[in-house]
This record gives sequence, C-alpha cells and structure tokens, in this order.
Amino acid sequence: MEHAINIDDLRRLAKRRLPKIAYDFIEGGLEDERGIARNERAFAKFDLVPRYGLEVSSCDQSTVLFGRTYAGPLGIAPTGLAGLFRAGADLMLAEAAKTANVPFIMSGTGTGLIEDLGRLAPEHGWYQLYVARDRWISEDMIRRVRDAGLSTLVVTVDVPLNSKRERNLRNGFTRPLKMTMKTKLEALLHPVWMAEYLRTGMPLFSNWKQYAPPGSSTAEVADFVAEQTPVPVLWRDVETYRRLWPGKLVIKGIMHAEDAVRCVALGADGIMVSNHGGRQLDKSPAPIEVLPAIAAAVGDKLSVMFDSGIRRGSDAVVALCLGAKYVFVGRATLYGVAAGATAGATRALDIFRDEIGRTMMQMGAPDIRSLGPQFLSWDLDLSRRNAPGLPADGMRRS
Ligand SMILES: Cc1cc2nc3c(=O)[nH]c(=O)nc-3n(C[C@H](O)[C@H](O)[C@H](O)COP(=O)(O)O)c2cc1C
Repeated sequence: MEHAINIDDLRRLAKRRLPKIAYDFIEGGLEDERGIARNERAFAKFDLVPRYGLEVSSCDQSTVLFGRTYAGPLGIAPTGLAGLFRAGADLMLAEAAKTANVPFIMSGTGTGLIEDLGRLAPEHGWYQLYVARDRWISEDMIRRVRDAGLSTLVVTVDVPLNSKRERNLRNGFTRPLKMTMKTKLEALLHPVWMAEYLRTGMPLFSNWKQYAPPGSSTAEVADFVAEQTPVPVLWRDVETYRRLWPGKLVIKGIMHAEDAVRCVALGADGIMVSNHGGRQLDKSPAPIEVLPAIAAAVGDKLSVMFDSGIRRGSDAVVALCLGAKYVFVGRATLYGVAAGATAGATRALDIFRDEIGRTMMQMGAPDIRSLGPQFLSWDLDLSRRNAPGLPADGMRRS
C-alpha cells in the first residue's frame, strides 16, 4: 500500500476495486451533496500560521482521552455495512486501530460482532449504538457492550430518519441489498470484489441477528433492522443510557451549542461535533464552522470530539486548534480497507500520522496540547452562524 501517498490515492484505489453501487454508498451524501462539498471546503477557510526559531525536532502526538493515552489524536469513526466493501472489514479496521493505538468505533449497523471486538481490541474498540424502535433491544446491546469489556458507548442522534440518498436510489441500493440487472452487470467489471461477494455472500448485521425472528436469513435480519431503525433519539433515551451504562458515554452528531450544553447536563462524557459526513441534512453547516461555538459553550465539562470532512492531516490540526480534543475519520479509512484490507486501513492511519506530524513541526507546535487558536487565521464570518464563541486570540482576516 506504500504507493498510496495520500488519502485521495486510497480513494481512487477503492473506486477501482468496488462496483459503483458500493463505492457510491461510501462516497455519497444526500440530495445535491452540497453538504459533503461544504464540509471539505470549509477547511480551506482556515489557515495555519507558522512560528519559527523554536526547537521542534520532533513532535509528540500522544493524546490523552478519557484517561487513556492514545498514540495520536485521530481515530476511526463508525461506518455501517463495512463488510460490503470487504468481507471482515470491521475487524480489519479494529486491528489497524489497535496497531496504531487509536480508537475504532464499531457501527450500530456494522457487520462485525460486539463480542469479537471485545476479544480483539478491548482497549481500542468503542461501540456506536443506533437506538432501536423496541427499546429493550438497545438496552440489551448496552449490556453486551459492557460484558465485552468495551470502555466507551457512542449514541448517534443525527439519524431520526433515512435521508434522501439519491445515488443509492438510482443504484437500487436497498437494505437488504437487491441488485438490479444493471448493477449486476456493472459489478462484473470488478471481478475481485464480485468473487469475494459470491464467496462470502451479503454481509450480515451480526449484532442484530439474535433479536430477529429465529432462523432469519441475512436478508430477513436486514429487513428486521430496517423495521427497528432509524428512530429519533430522545433526550430521555440518553438519560436512560446514562443510568445503564457505567463507562464513558459520547453523543455523536451534535451541531448546536445548546444541545452540547444539554449533553453536559445529562452526564455525557463527550460529544462528537459531526454532520454524519454530510449524509443526513444537505443544508447543514460544516461542523468545523460550528465547532468553536460548541467548544466555547461546554469548556472542559466534557470532551469535545469532531468528524466530517477530514482528508488531510492539516484538516485534523485545524480542528484541534479550534477546540476539538480528538478527531475521527469515516470515509478515509473505509477507502483504505476497501483498497487493501488491514494494510490499507493502516496505510490511511499512517498517512494521517505523517501529515499531522509534518504540519505541526512546520507550525512550531511540539505537542498536541500546544495546539490552539493562536495558530489560526480565517476568512469566514463565523459570528453570523450560531457561533458566538469564536476564540478571541485567533487572527480574523475579514
Ligand atoms: C459509508 C458510511 C457509513 C456510515 N455509517 C455510520 C453509522 O453506522 N453510524 C454513525 O454514527 N455514523 C456513520 N457514518 C458517519 C461517520 O461516522 C462519520 O460521521 C463521517 O463519515 C465523517 O465524515 P468523513 O467521512 O468526511 O470523515 C457513516 C459514514 C459513511 C461514509
């Protein structure tokens, strides 16, 4: 995988290996896909101002989060149906995260088992819960996550319903996956993927199987998951999970300072500022634009994390300067695992590690703790947007 020198190289390799129906599921947003473009473009509005004459011959990326020291500030966000891109992808991502000593979040619609994650990577595996219509299922999943020895539960709140993903509609992408003749013919152009798919079959929502009617096929389990999710998550659900879950609790999908403050009141340990990678509300602001206000509103009362739009190590550094304590990527590591299994996911993490280190040393920042708004320059009117908490010591250009 050494020939992939940046994340876009991994994206191209993934695109070559995957049939359109699978690649579009990773890449796509909803409606006009304005949100994805905006997530990425918003990073370009922030510049990093270097300081020289300092002793920075090395850079310490170690980051303490929830009392644990990780090797770097960037982990793997939850992504559903990863087994469609490569059989066993969930545990490959977990393995890569463990080797890199960063967190991996297994998706609530993942294709790996909570119990396997507990065996493979108890120190690095987190679980993301999609709340089920029958709430007892979610409560039982929380018990399983605890019994598996995982430290952190992530509750995603930004999927009250399925969004209008037009690529999927055009490709006939449904849950369960029913391929039309056109998509089957296109898939034949990707014989390596097709051979694996024919050998291993449609990926299973493994964690849901035991709740579906006994003897359900893979397709019937997928039907069951489609009946159970998505549902709006209510604050009172979060209250219940806080009572049930003894470990660290993170709420994912927060985009407004008042919701962040609510999470503090409910006893969450962390929030993830995220718009689901531009997959749920096409006219959502870019999370990087609302991050400063949210970080200012909650201060140190919980750990503010971030994802959506990170494609370069320097994007991650911008988010850390704007108040994120930790950042995650979704698509980037999926490109890696689709392109090259565990080695591909590892390559994606290595690329970020290298780029973050080079960026920080070029800026004159010796360690993650030293990052802050003093390194930033920007040309965007954040005060217009629900963002009263702009850091005072950044440099504003317009
Ligand atoms: C293919 C795919 C599947 C996803 N599935 C989930 C999921 O099951 N649960 C969840 O909370 N977020 C899910 N997300 C959102 C990611 O966790 C993350 O918020 C997003 O990918 C970050 O943006 P980025 O892809 O630009 O890094 C998914 C994203 C992608 C691309």
